[in-house]
Amino acid sequence: MNYKDELARTIASFLEGVEADALKDLIEYPPNPEMGDFSMPCFKLSKALRKAPQAIADEIKSKLEGTAPFERVESVSGYLNVFVDKKSFASEVLRSVLSAGDRYGSSSQGEGKTIVIDFSSPNIAKPFHVGHLRSTMIGNALYQIHSFLGYQCVGVNHLGDWGTQFGKLIVAYKNEGNKEAVEEGGILELLRLYVKFHDDAEKNPEMEEEARSWFVKLEQGDAEATELWKWFVDISLKEFNKIYELLGVRFDTYAGESFYNDKMGAPIQEMKDKGLLVEDDGALLVRLEDYNMPPALMIKKDGATLYHTRDVAAAIYRKNTYNFDKCLYVTGAAQSLHFNQWFKIIELMGYDWAKDLVHVPFGQVSLEGAKLSTRKGNVVMLEELLTKSVDRVREIIDEKNPDMPNKEEVARQVGVGAIVFNDLSTNRIKDVVFSWEEALNFEGETGPYVQYTHARACSVLRQVNGTSSIALETSLDRIDPEHLQNAEAQLVLKELYVFGERIQSAMNKLEPSIVSRYLVDLAQAFNRFYHACKIRVEDETVRNARLALVKAVQITLRNGLRLIGLESPEQI
Ligand code: ARG
Repeated sequence: MNYKDELARTIASFLEGVEADALKDLIEYPPNPEMGDFSMPCFKLSKALRKAPQAIADEIKSKLEGTAPFERVESVSGYLNVFVDKKSFASEVLRSVLSAGDRYGSSSQGEGKTIVIDFSSPNIAKPFHVGHLRSTMIGNALYQIHSFLGYQCVGVNHLGDWGTQFGKLIVAYKNEGNKEAVEEGGILELLRLYVKFHDDAEKNPEMEEEARSWFVKLEQGDAEATELWKWFVDISLKEFNKIYELLGVRFDTYAGESFYNDKMGAPIQEMKDKGLLVEDDGALLVRLEDYNMPPALMIKKDGATLYHTRDVAAAIYRKNTYNFDKCLYVTGAAQSLHFNQWFKIIELMGYDWAKDLVHVPFGQVSLEGAKLSTRKGNVVMLEELLTKSVDRVREIIDEKNPDMPNKEEVARQVGVGAIVFNDLSTNRIKDVVFSWEEALNFEGETGPYVQYTHARACSVLRQVNGTSSIALETSLDRIDPEHLQNAEAQLVLKELYVFGERIQSAMNKLEPSIVSRYLVDLAQAFNRFYHACKIRVEDETVRNARLALVKAVQITLRNGLRLIGLESPEQI
């Protein structure tokens, strides 16, 4: 049952000319249970109803009070505070969670709609660093969240596998590299060559020209260039896939920039026909000064295409292939101008779906204050970071729970989860400073804390059931909500109740941190309940009621963790 909807509808039926939807937006969850389970400030209604807020609240109170399930209503200084019947609330929430199980919180609102999510998209021949983690995890969370709400999602890894950097790499490889070293060193060796190119080119600027001509050769299908390029791609992909496996992330397609090499002709012709391309010293560009943006270069003097060009071609291809309702691009905020420029170009080409292209920017990641930059070679490799985290968790487990089964698996789930959760726990647009202390703190507002709380719930269920299985045969009509009226239990129930709303707003705002924060709130409420109320009590009805609540929390934590890409081990 949706109490908020019901409340809004009921109040709307008392008031003339006020829509339930508008009321729904006004209804709040008071921070303090003394102020009700729901509260509605009446100030904004004052003008439309030509009455003082207090009088409006008084009037609604007199009509609403006693209408099930709204047991008690108070009118306090222009606020309407509504108290729901605790027993029916408990039954209702438990029934919803336990009957939906791993679908609790889901919906079918997205049915028939397609969302393309372009995320992760690392660059070939450069290491996958902490900066790419954000795109991967935010994108993956948006994928899970949309899927849970019924959308058909297409996860695209728009690999950076094309562009002048390949010309540079070929030049550096021919000058400084050799086959064995690349085979042995993998991406690190490719990175070394790339960095070396930049150092050398500072002294010998003609190297830049050489690199450009190698890229042009590549675009024209030159055999030697193509072979080297393929080799670089294979080496890089092998390493990227190790990371994706560690993170448990998958894509529906890896169609990257090179995929569009033969698909740019038509859009370029189209831009020409529509009078958008202007010649400038042999190059072709789209002027955007009317929109307060610098021009977007589409074709260089030497005929080479650019990042922009490929993005325009890719968007048209995706629209034709998937007929998306929205296409999301998850990248660092530094690329905002790039996206604004070419989104505008799509619009100027006359495509009304330009409005469905959405850039989802995020802030920078720094480690101990140092900014991450691939060019300088000053990178912290993600694999190293993840492995270190897994090692630390393994140490903690060895110390606290040395006999635990599948230690290695759990160390991976929690170690990786710590990093991911840390990344998703603040608003995405904020810069993140990575700290080991914070990420791995089992008591702080962290991934390990939420995962540990989930494992604790599993352990309670296991102990009481006397079996290692956590499946609780809770027959709903055996639960007596009488025993869940205390403040701690009610707080947990309230958290359980808002799960769906939180997922919804995470989707609307494209903000996975709403789910992360929710999980911390739920875990904290549960831990307070756990400390206040003994679960293994003699009285079977009390025990069953509390167990059902534990089970509901376990289900909800697990569903929520999954939405942000974390696993939920049953024992830690
Ligand atoms: N490869 C780019 C980078 O690492 C991100 C690509 C994002 N997607 C896109 N369609 N432009 O910065």
